[in-house]
Amino acid sequence: MMEGGRLDGAAIAGALGWDPASVIVLDEVGSTNDFVRERACALPAGAVVFAETQAQGRGRRGRHWVSPRGANLLFSVLLRPEFGMEKWSRLAHVAALAVARGIEAVAPELVAGIKWPNDVFVAGRKIAGILLESHAVGSGTGERFAVAGIGLNVNGLAGDWPEELRGELTSLRECRADRAPLGREGVAATVLREFAALVEGAASGFPAMLAEITGRSTLVGKWVEVTLPGKGALRGVVAGFGREGELCLRVAGESEPRSLASAERVRVVMA
Ligand code: BTN
Repeated sequence: MMEGGRLDGAAIAGALGWDPASVIVLDEVGSTNDFVRERACALPAGAVVFAETQAQGRGRRGRHWVSPRGANLLFSVLLRPEFGMEKWSRLAHVAALAVARGIEAVAPELVAGIKWPNDVFVAGRKIAGILLESHAVGSGTGERFAVAGIGLNVNGLAGDWPEELRGELTSLRECRADRAPLGREGVAATVLREFAALVEGAASGFPAMLAEITGRSTLVGKWVEVTLPGKGALRGVVAGFGREGELCLRVAGESEPRSLASAERVRVVMA
């Protein structure tokens, strides 16, 4: 489905007041994250690459990201943050915040929540996912960069997804009362504007961003089961987030909450 025609990169750049060369639209690619990583040395910081379709769209933890051609937004942003790499995990959290804010800016009737670490939900279903990858080329002073890959379902309809995912995913169009398609350029520019501003402020302003993320969290105060990477599972109540966005989990019988930097899966077992 190519609702509204091919994505117009010049229109996105124009809306943002950016150099048109910094917005690239590809018809097809393996993964926009891989495309940006492979060309990072030749691209300016902030460059964004969109694709109408991906042959190997990647999700977190080795999962696939499926999206019908031309329906949604699939893009990756090249970041060269000026703050230390130990704080780059912030980028994934602010990407989710940018998408949540962008959704509410283009569709004010919707409420966008964030499921830690960086899935964006509307009406109980996932509408966007983020794959943040950091790279260090060479050692010492070698180049360091991050690629923020964002898949945001804009005009996809339930029938476009594999049957097993239909109850889990949604799109802006699916969530709107009139189910009218949206112009993808406007949505993209809105999210990118938010993201650029948040990245700019993330070094010093992250605590305030974390407060907003906490307010938008779909997990805080809930009983959850956290599947740990290769180490079984933990059950507890989500108490909030640590300074760098770690999940704070109160486990029965333990005096201090656990601080988890990553997890394989988080499932709400009791609201
Ligand atoms: C997830 O929820 O697991 C993350 C999904 C990230 C998908 C986007 S689409 C654009 C970019 N290119 C990729 O291959 N993945 C990200």
